[in-house]
Amino acid sequence: MLIKVLGSAAGGGFPQINCNCRNCANVRRGTPGLRARTQSSLAVSRDGEAWVLLNASPDLRQQVAATPELAPPPSAGDRASPIKAVVLTNGDVDHVAGLLSLREGFAFSVYAAERVLQVLAANNIFDVLDARLVERVPLAVGGRPIGLKGGGADLGLTLEAFPVPGKVALYLEDPGAGPGFGTREGDTIGLRVADRATGAAFFYVPGCAAIDAALADRLRGASLVLFDGTLYSDEEMIAQGLSSKTGRRMGHISMSGPDGSLAAFAGLGVKRRIFVHLNNSNPALREDGPERAQVEKAGWEVAFDGMEIRP
Ligand code: MLT
Ligand code: MN
Ligand code: ZN
Repeated sequence: MLIKVLGSAAGGGFPQINCNCRNCANVRRGTPGLRARTQSSLAVSRDGEAWVLLNASPDLRQQVAATPELAPPPSAGDRASPIKAVVLTNGDVDHVAGLLSLREGFAFSVYAAERVLQVLAANNIFDVLDARLVERVPLAVGGRPIGLKGGGADLGLTLEAFPVPGKVALYLEDPGAGPGFGTREGDTIGLRVADRATGAAFFYVPGCAAIDAALADRLRGASLVLFDGTLYSDEEMIAQGLSSKTGRRMGHISMSGPDGSLAAFAGLGVKRRIFVHLNNSNPALREDGPERAQVEKAGWEVAFDGMEIRP
């Protein structure tokens, strides 16, 4: 099995279109130790021929152009794509907007929790995905693993979806619904993807508000976890004058602090830990900075666009 990180940044990307924070200003200027990053997505394949995208980023077209494996195979005729399936972990713009770039008339399957499929159904623009070609498959959250198929291909992978603490998509928040803004189960899920032949597996949790006991139990002893690396500290966007929101308010755990992911993973015995979905404000983006050193000291890697991982 091969994982290719198509996009390692959170919503907005890096640099973000309107952002003049230190990181964004520096990466625009080519400061050493910073790399530009597109928005959150992975591509996964067992055989290198049929691929599933985990989330469909607004930068999908650019990501496919940068990934030779996702080009139409030369022998496949006039119109073809190795992309056979897309799995969505929430309804946020950075994870679903790329579906609109897959509207060119080829067969694939979209897997998501009912809650996210309802978002697609409620927004007619997604009807550009021809229902005769693009099947929408509900994922049972907390249910048994299923075999991934799409576009006439069997991907040779199993997929398990499980609930994680999180928040409903930003544009669906209901301010009158109390502290959860109307969040329900299925709004944010994590995935376990396994190679049916070899049993090699990994977890993908790009959005997560907290590591509760159930999630800790699930991840304990895993060989590979790709995890929410949005912020380094809960108040960094406020401290940098970028936003009035904490990480908690956005549904994202931070890396540092007593409730952070570095601390939560410290006793879990996960062999390989990689941060994905990094916000442009995150100081751990700076390869030569003290926060990156802390992250690496705690045994973590920071994903970059084009990174290849073999679970
Ligand atoms: C998030 O991960 O919090 C969202 O992608 C935010 C957004 O939609 O901009
Ligand atoms: Mn996001
Ligand atoms: Zn910025």
